[in-house]
Amino acid sequence: MTTTASFRRMDESTAEQWAEIGARTCERQVRVAAQILRMLRDLGAITDGFAVDQLRHSLQTATRAEQAGADEEMVVAALCHDIGKFVSVPNHPRIAAEILRPYVRDEVFHVIRTHQDFQGRHYYHHFGGDPEAREQYRGESWFELGERFADLWDQASFDPDFPTEPLEHFEPAVCRVFARPRTF
Ligand SMILES: [Fe+2]
Repeated sequence: MTTTASFRRMDESTAEQWAEIGARTCERQVRVAAQILRMLRDLGAITDGFAVDQLRHSLQTATRAEQAGADEEMVVAALCHDIGKFVSVPNHPRIAAEILRPYVRDEVFHVIRTHQDFQGRHYYHHFGGDPEAREQYRGESWFELGERFADLWDQASFDPDFPTEPLEHFEPAVCRVFARPRTF
């Protein structure tokens, strides 16, 4: 049975109403990739003193990951690793990681969640922070991937002259990854 009038309180809901909500939510899953692409485009307005804006930094990080042979989930995660800055620079790694979490395997989630601690080796000394903050994660199965991400792809991707793929290049991968949540 199709229910047109849905509940006004969750404690009055029925299984049929939830089936309809579930079906409609699945139909509209496509909006997730569209929203991610919109947020990435908006990163183009954030430069904050860097040599490239945050969209170009994201594209360059993903380009380097792809050229190094990273799989599609990792490339999309590289593209989205700073998407949290759309909302807030403080805590941005965790914002990005939680956006990605339903769509990527655990090791990719952890690499994005902790990427600033790995990046610290390259600049924390300017602020009196611990450049070896990454050491708290040594022994984790994803530690090596975290090092590769930070040292080879992320921290190196502020180069205005590096041939960087445009957002359109990554759009099909973004649509594929965000079309299939593993968890809700
Ligand atoms: Fe970054």
